[in-house]
Amino acid sequence: MARPSEDLFNYLDEYHLSFQTLLDNGLKSREFRYKEDAIKMIGKLDLESRKEVRVLSIGSGNGDVDLHFINALVDKYTKIHYTVVEPAKASIDEFKRLTKSKKDIWNGVNFIFRVQEVEDYLEEGGTSDKYDVIHACHSLYRCRDAENTLHYLYNMLSKEGMLLIRVIKGTHTY
Ligand SMILES: C[S@@+](CC[C@H](N)C(=O)[O-])C[C@H]1O[C@@H](n2cnc3c(N)ncnc32)[C@H](O)[C@@H]1O
Repeated sequence: MARPSEDLFNYLDEYHLSFQTLLDNGLKSREFRYKEDAIKMIGKLDLESRKEVRVLSIGSGNGDVDLHFINALVDKYTKIHYTVVEPAKASIDEFKRLTKSKKDIWNGVNFIFRVQEVEDYLEEGGTSDKYDVIHACHSLYRCRDAENTLHYLYNMLSKEGMLLIRVIKGTHTY
């Protein structure tokens, strides 16, 4: 697979700084929807017999969104395997700090952090991994071949698995 997003890689810090500025100036209100979506989605998961819930988060940023999914998961399951695929190292570092600050309530969560693009993860063998929940919130815009990536992600779902893709379409607000 060829490398996508060379422009993003050249300006990753600026990109994240701009995104954080948007959040700080009102965009954070979207998190109420994230929280609702996370609670709804995890509520629908029916994996009681499983020993461990496996989650894949694509383009997490600093974990602001993920925390709603993780909170909903730990309310319902005791053992969670949570893989994060995010190319921005600074964001992953922030996410790691978040996990430390939440370690008392997230102690059943085993985090795997991969500093890379989803395409590279898939190419390195990710396609043979199975997940019960896969979510990509506003992170697939930069994919060179979003259709193929979606196809792979869909096939990586476990039998009862759920896939959440969040994107802006047309003139909709965030
Ligand atoms: C708009 S931010 C969204 C962050 C978070 N998911 C949210 O909704 O607040 C997009 C994120 O996708 C990441 N990203 C960009 N291209 C990616 C790719 N090819 N694979 C995985 N993540 C990617 C960026 O580094 C960034 O953290």
